[in-house]
Amino acid sequence: MVKRNACVFISGTGTNLKELLKSSREYNFPININYIISNTKKAEGLKIAKIYKIPFRVLNLNKIINLELALGELHKKNISVICLAGYMKILNKKFINRFNKKIINIHPSLLPKYKGLNTFKRVLNNNEKLTGCTVHYVNKKLDGGKIILKKKVFIESSDDEETLKAKVQVKEYRAYSESIINIFR
Ligand code: GRF
Repeated sequence: MVKRNACVFISGTGTNLKELLKSSREYNFPININYIISNTKKAEGLKIAKIYKIPFRVLNLNKIINLELALGELHKKNISVICLAGYMKILNKKFINRFNKKIINIHPSLLPKYKGLNTFKRVLNNNEKLTGCTVHYVNKKLDGGKIILKKKVFIESSDDEETLKAKVQVKEYRAYSESIINIFR
């Protein structure tokens, strides 16, 4: 199968990046990850980029010069999809307009509930019994793009932020790969 080229944007530990890289090594997975962008050189996920030998760049896309540089590279590398995986910056509207291909994100709640940050804390404070994760397209509204796939996680009374995050992340890994398969097949 001809695989599309993908770029993953990260800011942190990069466990979703790692799972996407593992999936992408399967012969019938529809994307190859051939570029990684991080907004910070402190992102742990850059170690994963090095281990997997994927070219990466650290860029602050709020600077117009970097935005142009990134768009140029993405074009040159023929990137068909950007996967945001724990990317903690809001994507510049200009960037979204100019990169006229798919941009997708994974969010740790059942959208449209709990957009934004600190989802686990807010979910627990509200005594929710159910949460999960959502893969969605990125548009100009924060966590507001069209939903691709959601996965549920049941909350137990013994759960705290840490245990809930661990449970949701396991679902995230499957949700992200399944979404990419759904999009491209
Ligand atoms: C994930 O929980 C994702 O939902 C959120 O940021 C977290 C990133 O984790 N957007 P990691 O860097 O992939 O480990």
